Amino acid sequence: MRPEEGWDGAVLRALSPEWADRVIFLPECDSTNDEARLLAGRGAPDGQVVLTENQRSGRGRRGQRWTCPPGEGLAFSLVVRPLAPSACWSRASLAAGLAVAEALDPFGVAAGVKWPNDIWVAGKKIAGILVEGGSDFLVVGVGLNANVRDFPDDLTFPATSLALERSVPVSREEVLVSVLTRLAPRLGQIDRGFDELRRAWSERCVLSGKVVTLESGGTKMTGRVEGLSTHGELLLRTPSGLARILQASEIREVID
Ligand code: BTN
Repeated sequence: MRPEEGWDGAVLRALSPEWADRVIFLPECDSTNDEARLLAGRGAPDGQVVLTENQRSGRGRRGQRWTCPPGEGLAFSLVVRPLAPSACWSRASLAAGLAVAEALDPFGVAAGVKWPNDIWVAGKKIAGILVEGGSDFLVVGVGLNANVRDFPDDLTFPATSLALERSVPVSREEVLVSVLTRLAPRLGQIDRGFDELRRAWSERCVLSGKVVTLESGGTKMTGRVEGLSTHGELLLRTPSGLARILQASEIREVID
């Protein structure tokens, strides 16, 4: 970590020597997911973190951009080498979303998860996760609006930040440590701990019990969200029965 670049390695070390040793800081890069992927391909260990101050071409899910003004947000990627069988790896994005939402509790912000892994506060998105896979590793990319105050006009969703919700800036180092310490245990639950993960996720889900519309496999559906299946699918009670959603377009709440 290089203090002169805005991130203070000494602060991070004081907060958590264990995590400070695992963080590679890049003043700028195209995407931390790409950098982490490269390192993982060269043998980087489980728990390696790539953090940047200025991500030039941050990616979101479904081919969207992820932008963040330098010095204001948190953009990092974690290399994960799951012990669980690869059949369970798709659950990692649920685990990561839940961990990030939980990591905001100490900052006095009530964050929920929106399927599959967006993090929302008071009806606005505060963080997003992009999980990408390699043959024997996963890269979990986290973008979190820590002290961001202005957002692009062309966002397709309302956005907020910790600073806006609390009316005071946060220490990004403290937020980083809070997220990292929660990510590892939640990611450890994608196999045998999945029932607990599913329960905690459903409790945090901002859509639980709500009527939503979405598009899945070319079909538009409306139904009430009933939580997660044992396979990590979203359970949607529709007029024609219980649908199990694996992939969907943006999910919108139906306000009636
Ligand atoms: C989304 O909500 O669509 C996911 C956003 C994920 C953004 C993070 S920022 C760090 C990492 N690097 C990327 O290019 N994307 C992820």
